[in-house]
Amino acid sequence: MSGSTITPWVVGNWKMNPMQADAQQLIQDFKSLLQAHPIDESSCYIGVAPITLALTTTQTALSSANRMVYTVAQDLSRIAATGAYTGEVSAELLKDSQINFVLIGHSERREIFGESAQVLNEKMKNALNAGLTVIYCVGESLEQRESGQAEQVVLQQICDIATVVDSEQWQNIVIAYEPIWAIGTGKTASPEDAQAMHAQIREGLSQITTYGQSMAILYGGSVKPENAVELAACPDINGALVGGASLNAESFHKIAHAFANTK
Ligand code: 13P
Repeated sequence: MSGSTITPWVVGNWKMNPMQADAQQLIQDFKSLLQAHPIDESSCYIGVAPITLALTTTQTALSSANRMVYTVAQDLSRIAATGAYTGEVSAELLKDSQINFVLIGHSERREIFGESAQVLNEKMKNALNAGLTVIYCVGESLEQRESGQAEQVVLQQICDIATVVDSEQWQNIVIAYEPIWAIGTGKTASPEDAQAMHAQIREGLSQITTYGQSMAILYGGSVKPENAVELAACPDINGALVGGASLNAESFHKIAHAFANTK
């Protein structure tokens, strides 16, 4: 299977946004747009990742959409199961609430919350063992790119998880390449640069797993309706992880539409 035959994913990462009333409005607006301009389920998977507190209300509100829109957790505990771990939410507890997707390795978690490769591996192992699908984020900083290390950094981040992912579990991983310098900055990687990195990631994955050719590799970093079509046209870009633009129903719908129709 070549990269371009993979069903694309468009996932909105709401990060630490928005307030409850605005979230409900956002979901309502998105459902109305899907009603007016349907996006076929087989042409694009769609998901949104709200704050932990809003996972179940978001899921309930989305259940009346005219197509499946998955609810994705932004984080999970590095501790499995249940127990005396104040403030934590485990993979099993997410699964118990029918939350089947989780982000791991976002640069904000790595950088602001100091999550090391070891912590991320614990999270990865728990998530996969509980049956969750993981969107694993990788990406280099501006300094790393400017010093020619981008590829090495990103491939190392892929290799990091290889020690804890069993051969069949690679099917339950989606990769999101998010160059840190493109997140929330309005600067997008050029489609050529993004495609080049995605091709490297796919090559790296293919050396580790037999699923490498069929895994979705999403791009993230200032994706907006204006650049979505160009990004979607790249053979190894199988979707988008969208931050800021996912907080606007119309923008998010246009991005999903672009991926559904360009792929
Ligand atoms: P922006 O789309 O706001 O740049 O954020 C990207 C991101 O970090 C998604 O996880």
